[in-house]
Amino acid sequence: MSDHILVDPHALERFVRHVYMDAGLSDTDAGLVANSLVQAELWNHASHGVLRMPWYWERLRHGVMSKQTKIEVLRDKGAVAVLDAHDGVGQVVAKHAMDLAIAKARTHGVASVAVRNSNHFGTLMYFTRMATQAGCIGFVTSNGGPAMAPWGGAKRKIIGTNPWSIAAPAAARSPIMLDMANTGVARGKIYLARQRREPIPEGWALDANGAPTTDADAAINGIILPMAHHKGYAIAALMDVLAGVLPGAQFLSGVHGPYHYDKRSGVGHFLTVYDIEAFMDRPEFDERMERFIAEIKSQPLAQGFDEIFYPGEMEARAAERHLRDGLKLPEDTWNDLAKVAQEIGQAALLEECRASSSPRANA
Ligand SMILES: NC(=O)c1ccc[n+]([C@@H]2O[C@H](COP(=O)([O-])OP(=O)(O)OC[C@H]3O[C@@H](n4cnc5c(N)ncnc54)[C@H](O)[C@@H]3O)[C@@H](O)[C@H]2O)c1
Repeated sequence: MSDHILVDPHALERFVRHVYMDAGLSDTDAGLVANSLVQAELWNHASHGVLRMPWYWERLRHGVMSKQTKIEVLRDKGAVAVLDAHDGVGQVVAKHAMDLAIAKARTHGVASVAVRNSNHFGTLMYFTRMATQAGCIGFVTSNGGPAMAPWGGAKRKIIGTNPWSIAAPAAARSPIMLDMANTGVARGKIYLARQRREPIPEGWALDANGAPTTDADAAINGIILPMAHHKGYAIAALMDVLAGVLPGAQFLSGVHGPYHYDKRSGVGHFLTVYDIEAFMDRPEFDERMERFIAEIKSQPLAQGFDEIFYPGEMEARAAERHLRDGLKLPEDTWNDLAKVAQEIGQAALLEECRASSSPRANA
């Protein structure tokens, strides 16, 4: 297992923003990508945090992800829009698409935006949370580079982990947020295990020969297994219909993940927003959500559990803790960031991220 470096999340966000500005992104776009990666760390989803910073940076350098995101509206018909992102930065594209879906949902009650030619945009709940902040329920799915075989297929991976997220406001509480890949775990968790030099649990993946493996490298080169057997495969396939087929994006083996620095991604997204006020008055929804969550949380505990969480609650709790105590980055992740810092002459800026005591004091 590798050691950890304790970092101040605010300083880390400043560093990542600087790296992307140096790579040619606008101040606003660089700030958004930095905020999304650090927010994933705060939520305890390090698999979609700053370990991806050097990957996106390489993709910008190779020109397969555009520095200036230019979004073209291909169709705009009532509650529906179709966008071509022309290889723009995934987070910038997803935020734009979500803003548009929220605006359209305000007019129509429900709205969907489909996106083609985008890039990997990190953690999905970053974007469904935007809908909750606008008084809406948000749904987002994206396809991704091949990770799993169709159920019954032997070796060839052709289906992405194709994550999906639904988030809703939860009265005075942090939003209720489902966000998951359709593989047993997000592929990023296998990359994270490799960074931490830890074995992966049995049942996550097969090696390139189709044999079960606990080795992260062998899993990355092999096949990731779907969640819940055939069901994970079936959901992933349908998410690809929404995010790949319908928007006119690449699908199945046509999509390239962020791990390929020299290939256009071709990834597609699909977002739907429901304006709560179109369905019922907001105070009534809030009162019902509070009762909904209270009933879940008040159930007797199973052996070995201290508390029942609603989806998204653990992430909110983790964010509070990390803002207070700092983030622990695996040494290998720190070293990857250090290589980029060195290349752009910003080693000192990265060093400023080290936190010795309370990071909040540095905010
Ligand atoms: N952009 C991409 O292409 C891509 C691809 C795959 C995954 N991802 C991201 O990876 C992240 C991790 O995905 P994952 O599938 O490993 O998620 P996960 O298994 O960690 O969590 C899945 C869901 O279960 C909830 N949950 C977990 N433990 C819980 C508990 N004890 N009680 C209540 N709810 C609980 C979480 O809040 C989450 O909504 C997500 O943010 C996802 O967006 C992104």
